[in-house]
Amino acid sequence: MSALTSSGPEETRKLGEALGQAAEAGDVILLSGELGAGKTVLVQGIARGLRFEGPVSSKSFVLLGEYAGRLTLYHADLYRLDSTEEIEDLALEEISSDGVLVVEWPERGDVVLPEERLTLRFEVTGPETRLIVPEATGARAQALTEALGR
Ligand SMILES: Nc1ncnc2c1ncn2[C@@H]1O[C@H](COP(=O)(O)OP(=O)(O)OP(=O)(O)O)[C@@H](O)[C@H]1O
Ligand SMILES: [Mg+2]
Repeated sequence: MSALTSSGPEETRKLGEALGQAAEAGDVILLSGELGAGKTVLVQGIARGLRFEGPVSSKSFVLLGEYAGRLTLYHADLYRLDSTEEIEDLALEEISSDGVLVVEWPERGDVVLPEERLTLRFEVTGPETRLIVPEATGARAQALTEALGR
């Protein structure tokens, strides 16, 4: 699939919701893009799609948020990750098998992440507009990409 466009936060949340509805245990979604690009807004939508009822916060200080919905959503934000010890403590690859793992700033650390993943690259194209470019590795990521297009 080619790039998606979003014309506001609610549209980005809806894209996330479609991902959350289609998600299966073991799915991995990586979110790249500058500060304020809309990564966390998308995660809020994923949580909604997984029928998690509470708020999803921006993980400024907590490296890993856990939200129990239809499946458990693990939300990691590696922006402030600095020591390898912290990274190892996170054990993201193990975590990913029993729920849905979503990682913001995956390029920040030398984190071991599953090879099969959906990467979404956010580009800020205006105050309210975003370009979201998907890149899928593996059959599950491909299925998630198709869910985005619906
Ligand atoms: N189309 C859009 N999609 C998503 N967010 C948008 C859009 N248009 C405007 N925004 C605004 O951009 C901001 C995105 O914030 P968000 O916390 O999701 O960014 P982020 O990519 O997670 O940043 P960080 O790297 O700091 O975690 C919000 O204030 C949101 O209201
Ligand atoms: Mg964020």
